[in-house]
Amino acid sequence: MSLTRNTLAALLCAVAVTLALAACGRNEPDLSKGKAAFVEKCGSCHTLARAGTAGTQGPSLDKAFQTALADGIDRETVEGIVHRQILHPRKNSIMPAELVTGEDATDVAAYVAFAAAKSGDDAGALASAGLAQAKSGEQIFTAAGCAGCHTFSPAGSNGTIGPNLDELAAAAGKREPGKSAEDYVRESLLKPDAFLAPGFGNAMPSFDGRLTDKQIQALVDYLLKSGGG
Ligand code: HEC
Ligand code: HEC
Repeated sequence: MSLTRNTLAALLCAVAVTLALAACGRNEPDLSKGKAAFVEKCGSCHTLARAGTAGTQGPSLDKAFQTALADGIDRETVEGIVHRQILHPRKNSIMPAELVTGEDATDVAAYVAFAAAKSGDDAGALASAGLAQAKSGEQIFTAAGCAGCHTFSPAGSNGTIGPNLDELAAAAGKREPGKSAEDYVRESLLKPDAFLAPGFGNAMPSFDGRLTDKQIQALVDYLLKSGGG
């Protein structure tokens, strides 16, 4: 059977449509959403430097993929591995299956594949992605990178560049005369250089403009109320 001009056109059209769908059917993964979801759902167990997470119950995802990437595995393959792991962790793993599903799982896998073992910091919109969407004190603490410098038991962190925040609740009200514990902690976040905790240099970055007022308040409450001491 020979193709008439019309059937040929129709066939080409169908092919074009199929190709277009193949290209567009899957939207580009949203790395910002993926990063935010990673920080919220995965960061408490996994270290991933670019996401600012420091969990240790699961393997560091920077280390996990470093060798494979150096050996020439491409990031798309990493994305596939991460995606499978999200949906099907090994049996009896402490890693819960399907913490994220559908497009969210695609976004998280794409972000991990983008970020794993990559030196430098996220730029542009991605820089504030995890942080911008963090709501609870613990999420903000993790997403803002506090864990890397501070020990704080409720967050499971053990950084030693800054003071141990398990001792903060007891000390904060006595740091500066006439300043309440809450005001002192707020000042520490916004103007860390205004008062240096005894024995420490001014290594802490200001979070003025990086965190919303609401996030600052959530952090202050988290540090003073869930704190050890
Ligand atoms: C409760 C802790 C926990 C949470 C939450 C968690 N994981 Fe895991 N994850 C683990 C552990 C433990 C392993 C080690 C292998 C295993 O037990 O399956 C692991 C393994 C992995 C691996 C394989 C690493 C390798 O060495 O091959 C990837 C990728 C991974 N997790 C990604 C994620 C992502 C993405 C999320 C969030 C959607 C997540 N994990 C949430 C604990 C966790
Ligand atoms: C790069 C390391 C670094 C990061 C990141 C960092 N800090 Fe600090 N932090 C320090 C150092 C060093 C000090 C002590 C000097 C000072 O008081 O400014 C400090 C002091 C503090 C204090 C006062 C402690 C006291 O005992 O008086 C608080 C509260 C605090 N940090 C909370 C946080 C929180 C919350 C975050 C995340 C939003 C954070 N820090 C991020 C290094 C860091």
